[in-house]
Amino acid sequence: MPNTRCRRITAGAAIAASLFVHKAVAGLYPGMSNLNHTCSLVDPILSCSSGASDPSAVDTCCTETFGGLVLATQFWNTYTGFESEGQVLPKDAWTLHGTLPSPRTVSPPTKEKTKNGLSTTPSPHPTPRPARRTGRPSPAWRGPDFGTFLAPLGKLDLLAWMGVHWVAQPGWRNGDFWGHEFSKHATCYSTFDIECYGPQYREHEEVADFFETAAAFHRRLPTWAWLEASGVRPSNASTFSLADFARPLTQGFGAVPYIGCAGPKYNTTDAGKGSSDAGYTVINEIWYYYHVYGRVQRQQGLAVDANITGGRLTNCAQTPGALHYYERTAGSEV
Ligand SMILES: *[C@@H]1O[C@H](CO)[C@@H](O)[C@H](O)[C@H]1NC(C)=O
Ligand SMILES: *[C@@H]1O[C@H](CO)[C@@H](O)[C@H](O)[C@H]1NC(C)=O
Ligand SMILES: *[C@@H]1O[C@H](CO)[C@@H](O)[C@H](O)[C@H]1NC(C)=O
Ligand SMILES: *[C@@H]1O[C@H](CO)[C@@H](O)[C@H](O)[C@H]1NC(C)=O
Repeated sequence: MPNTRCRRITAGAAIAASLFVHKAVAGLYPGMSNLNHTCSLVDPILSCSSGASDPSAVDTCCTETFGGLVLATQFWNTYTGFESEGQVLPKDAWTLHGTLPSPRTVSPPTKEKTKNGLSTTPSPHPTPRPARRTGRPSPAWRGPDFGTFLAPLGKLDLLAWMGVHWVAQPGWRNGDFWGHEFSKHATCYSTFDIECYGPQYREHEEVADFFETAAAFHRRLPTWAWLEASGVRPSNASTFSLADFARPLTQGFGAVPYIGCAGPKYNTTDAGKGSSDAGYTVINEIWYYYHVYGRVQRQQGLAVDANITGGRLTNCAQTPGALHYYERTAGSEV
């Protein structure tokens, strides 16, 4: 039996979810005990499988029952807009966007929201949706800088790593972006519910856990190196074809990723005039899809094709030679 919670998220659903009224409630499943969530004692159940479809039949701290299709997403941006404040991009590496559970085909339960007083202003989806394509900055996150939650937990190394690899898209400050990623996405996994952390749960423990999990998935996805090994390096002098990206990334990952583009549509550019190819032309995002064995924190993913539940594999132009993979701006990459 297919798990209906594992369908692909749509832009509309993402936006609706982000506008959902924020309410401080404890977890996805109200009334859950904070005892007895020792996941090592149960065999890991594959998310999105029939065994994971009934939250009342499993320990939701040990099996992803809500957002079981996990997307590890990466950005390729050429600048940050905050270089003067030291927010720069890592040399020869794509950056972490987030580790998103997907999704919610049903309206989110009372939570989708916030926990532990992290409730803040709703903010829009950070992926390159229309607001970014038109170059309009997204409204700023008004909550606390989530980076400050990591220091009291002793996760200074994680915070330092995030400052290098988890870089916001142009116009966002990293700390605000991390807050957005946590409150929008971590809260849709059943395994980050604070009940899962037991009676001595420490404030923001699940935030650190989420960031650490995202880092773990990201580190296993060397997009830059996979491309480089097949001769694809950023260039402002040449253009690329979709297959130049799809082939090495599919081979490296073991399943077909989603390839995201922004920038102008091909047939609105000089090169594409008269074409019916209305795909976007600037490579800027890759989404790797997984099902996971047990809780996502175990870091055991099963790579799955990005269209496993239907949908497109790219929004990029498909005409050969239509794509730009731009070099970073001088001074934006360190
Ligand atoms: C927790 O596990 C113990 C030992 O199996 C059991 O006695 C107790 O009833 C359980 N409590 C809850 C709330 O599950
Ligand atoms: C681009 O292509 C789309 C889809 O084929 C078409 O609807 C649109 O009119 C085209 N735009 C231009 C400017 O040619
Ligand atoms: C995914 O895309 C591939 C290539 O276009 C296609 O052969 C396959 O049928 C698609 N799968 C689904 C579930 O849509
Ligand atoms: C390459 O082009 C992009 C997009 O126009 C620009 O942001 C970047 O600064 C350029 N990089 C170099 C090194 O010229």
